[in-house]
Amino acid sequence: MNFNKTEFYASYGKIEQIPELDFPEIAFSGRSNVGKSSLINKIFNRKNLARVSSVPGKTATINFYNIDKSCFLVDLPGYGYAKIAQHDKIRWSSLIEGYLTADRELRLVMQLIDMRHPPSADDIQMIDFWIETEQPFIIVLTKADKLSKKQREERLNGFKSEIPCFEDIEKVVFSAVTGEGVEQIRAIIEVVAQDN
Ligand code: GTP
Ligand code: MG
Repeated sequence: MNFNKTEFYASYGKIEQIPELDFPEIAFSGRSNVGKSSLINKIFNRKNLARVSSVPGKTATINFYNIDKSCFLVDLPGYGYAKIAQHDKIRWSSLIEGYLTADRELRLVMQLIDMRHPPSADDIQMIDFWIETEQPFIIVLTKADKLSKKQREERLNGFKSEIPCFEDIEKVVFSAVTGEGVEQIRAIIEVVAQDN
């Protein structure tokens, strides 16, 4: 699979707009600002494929990226940003729910968690949802470059009791700054996309 052959496919703001694509999909889920768009740019070695902003809540659409005509990566809008208007929150939940309950070939969810902090209530709710619906998922711990070795160990230990089933879930420690975890994520995508 050629990770350089990636293109932005489309953005959808309404569930009715999302077409049937007949390719496996891998979705990125996480709170606003956790680093979803940065991760997508890093694994494809592109600066601005996915738009990154310091203003939370920027990605308000579901964005599809095509890799080498074999699979789609799906950047879901970030949740948990308190300052957005109520009508945007409703739009967000109907968009996500519509996507997740549609009959799509969603092979894997990468659930991103900011490694610096305990998971938020929203994070736990999402993880519980993946477990309940038996949706295959892994956990990507982001912004690892911001932690010292000691802080890293403390967090990894804390997550064991904070995140349900933490020890049974595949995990990747990731940094969009240092590139830590990039190869691991690429390898996972490759296996998931090619498994027929
Ligand atoms: P929404 O689109 O709002 O849902 O956010 P997002 O999850 O796509 O986050 P985004 O990639 O836009 O990153 C948010 C902020 O965190 C930006 O300022 C990034 O530069 C920063 N950031 C993302 N990943 C990392 C990382 O691994 N390390 C560091 N130090 N900063 C990061
Ligand atoms: Mg984003």
